Formats: sequence, structure tokens, C-alpha cells
Amino acid sequence: MSLASHILKKIAETHGTPTYVYDIDRIKERYQYFQAAFPWPGLTICYAMKANYNPNILRTLRSLGAFIDAVSPGDLYMAMACGFKASRIIYTANNMKDCEVDEIMKTGVLMNIGSLSRLEKYAAKYPGTRLCLRFNPDVVDGEHDKIKTGGDLTKFGILLEDVDKVLRVARDHKLKIVGLHEHTGSGLIKPDSILNSMKNIMSVATQNNFPNLEFLDFGGGFKVPYGPDETEIDYKLVGQDIVALFSSFCDSYGKKLGLYFEPGKFLTAKAGCLLVEVNTIKTNRKKTICGTDSGFPQLIRPMFYDAYHHIENISNPESDKIEYDICGNICETGDLFAKNRLISRIREKDLLSINDAGAYCYAMGGVYNLRPMPAEVVVENGRIMLSRRRKTSEDLILSILEESIGIHPGQLNKHSNEACYQTLVGA
Ligand SMILES: Cc1ncc(COP(=O)(O)O)c(C=O)c1O
Repeated sequence: MSLASHILKKIAETHGTPTYVYDIDRIKERYQYFQAAFPWPGLTICYAMKANYNPNILRTLRSLGAFIDAVSPGDLYMAMACGFKASRIIYTANNMKDCEVDEIMKTGVLMNIGSLSRLEKYAAKYPGTRLCLRFNPDVVDGEHDKIKTGGDLTKFGILLEDVDKVLRVARDHKLKIVGLHEHTGSGLIKPDSILNSMKNIMSVATQNNFPNLEFLDFGGGFKVPYGPDETEIDYKLVGQDIVALFSSFCDSYGKKLGLYFEPGKFLTAKAGCLLVEVNTIKTNRKKTICGTDSGFPQLIRPMFYDAYHHIENISNPESDKIEYDICGNICETGDLFAKNRLISRIREKDLLSINDAGAYCYAMGGVYNLRPMPAEVVVENGRIMLSRRRKTSEDLILSILEESIGIHPGQLNKHSNEACYQTLVGA
């Protein structure tokens, strides 16, 4: 974690655990690095807010000039609430209902459509409108099978070979196709994948097919190192090849187009950690199991993607290292943050930092076992600020009861014992 351990300890003392911490200065650095890596006048960075929708992060990226890649009405309203104008948002949801399309069209954001079926329905209802089209780049890459989006085995994007069908619909309904889009996968492992996907999209992005293009959007997927054997990719080097390829494409297209990317992980993953406290140490014959006060619903990547997150014992960093399974507090055997991991000797009440947790961690969270999500704290210019308060169990249960049909908090005394009623309703 980029923040010093005395800052993390102070945060845990003030705000308790489990708590997510985000280093806003690091996010700014990552953004500026990305900008410098792709020196193209029309470079646009559309932050994939699915990675982390924390309002302080969104506001920071807005002030740096980012656009937004939104994937649901919730994403869209959140981005707008944090100051993003409709003209700075692209809407790339998949498998939308008709009413979702109508809802989004009222906001004026640019719609990005990734299937022929949706395109036909859209064209009939919204002829003559500006539109972006998502093609499947036919390149398969990504750091886990669940996050590879290219190739004909996934649900994403229109196949390149269907371009003639797309053109027929567009012509019949006078659609103005202003952008073409692709996203190959998350955590692209092979350096050539981005270039190969770009070339495949460029092969259909001709003046003849799409005379109104304003930009090409090549998605996200810029890998960050998580495991000890992984190294940071030098995107300044990759960026030179990408810009050269794009520049020669623009020459043949006859217009300097916008070059759009949608990084998520690259901007935020390394800038976050989850602070947890150890409450139980158990020695099971050959295994030492360390129990913490968080669990997989609050940070699911290890369980869901077998992802590696580096874990530091910031209360006892200098001691000898012991092998641990680091577990959560959820009633599931698979509730592990790390297995057979060497970590400085852990004692009960020690504070652990689960690192590289700024992307797809809080955002993928849930309340399984009815444990509320952690608090979120941001650090900027040395200032520690609570960004989102921790929900208590009482808050959580009351909100569920309020949303439930048939049980209203006002009737709780009929359904619950007196002590529970006192706690929740305070009457
Ligand atoms: C369409 C699209 N764009 C961008 C991203 C961001 O990917 P990453 O966080 O790997 O940069 C995703 C991730 O799933 C995506 O689906």
C-alpha cells in the first residue's frame, strides 16, 4: 500500500475496521501517467466506474478531465450526482430492457449498443440519432476466464462479420454512428492484444462504412501487477505503438479521430486497501488459521477469481514470517483472503492491510450473512477524510424491513422480541 502504516493505524483507530482506504494522490498520479503514455491530442480517458464508484474518486477524476464509462442507470445517476455532464458519459450496459433504453435516452448520454437485436429495436424507436456501436474484437485475453470479453464465446459486442447487417440497419434508420467500441478483457496479459483488437476494429472502421466517426474506443483492461511475480507493464512503451497505429489509421480514414480508453483497474486498484482486524488465531494440526472481521462479500476477488492480494501485518511488520490461511467471518469454507501465505507473525488484535483493493472490491461487495459493508476513508494531501460511513447492523436491517412487503418497522413489536424492537426502533 502506498500509504504509510502510521496513517493506516490512525485510520483504524479513528474509524474502526473493516475499512477501505483510498489514496487519492495515487489515483491522480495514475491518471497523469496514463495521459502521458498516450500522447494523442484527442485522447479521452473514460473511467470505468464499475471498478470503484466512490464519490471522492469520481469527483477527483472529473476534476482531472475524465469521462465516464457507465454500465447501469445507477452508474449513470451516480456519475451525474458527482458532477459529470451527460456529454462526458458513454453508456455501455449489456442486455438492456426497452424501458432502460428509454430511461437512458432521456438523459442525453451517448448510447453504446453491443448486439444486433438491440440495435434493430433501438433504430426503430430512435431513428436519426447519434450512436456508438460495440464490436467484439475477436481477440481473447484477460487475467481470468471470467473477465475475458472478446471472442465468440462471450455475450459482448457485435461480431465483426456482421458489419453488413449493422450497416443496413443504420442506413435504413439514418443512424449517425459517431463511435466504434471494443473491450477485450480485464488484466490483458499479452502485450499485443490491445494492438490486435485495435487492428480488427479498424478493419471495419472505414469511411465507406462509417463516414461520421468522431472516435474509436478501445475499452480498458490495462493490467496492474497483483502477485509477487508480476511486474508493472511500461505503458509508455506500449503507448507509442498504439499512438503510431492510431495515427496511421486516422491518415487513411482522412480525419483525426478521438482515441478513447476505459481504464478501471489501472487507475484505482493500486490506490486502495482494506484494513481488517484479527480476532481469532486457530492452529489446526498443520495449519494456522487467522480469522478477521471482514469476509468475502466485502472483498470477493480472491474467492471469485482466485485473485492474489498482498497482505501486510502492519501491527508487527518486522517479525519472522509464518504461513497462514487468512479468513473472514462468513459462514462459508471458501471465505478466504489468502491461503498458505507467509506473513509476519500475527497476533489477535493485529491490523492487516489487504492491498491493491481499490478496484472491483468495495464495488463488487454485498451483505451476505447480513454483515454491513465497511466504511470508506480517503487520504489526500496528508488529510484523512471519512468518505462513506459504516452502516450498522441496525441500519441494514431497518432498510431491509422498510423495503419488505408485509413487515413494517412500525409493526416490529408483533414480529420480534422486545429487546430487538428496542434496538431497531428505539421505542
Ligand atoms: C466495457 C468495459 N470497459 C472497461 C472495463 C474496465 O476494465 P479494467 O478495469 O480492466 O480496465 C470493463 C471491465 O469489465 C468493461 O467491461
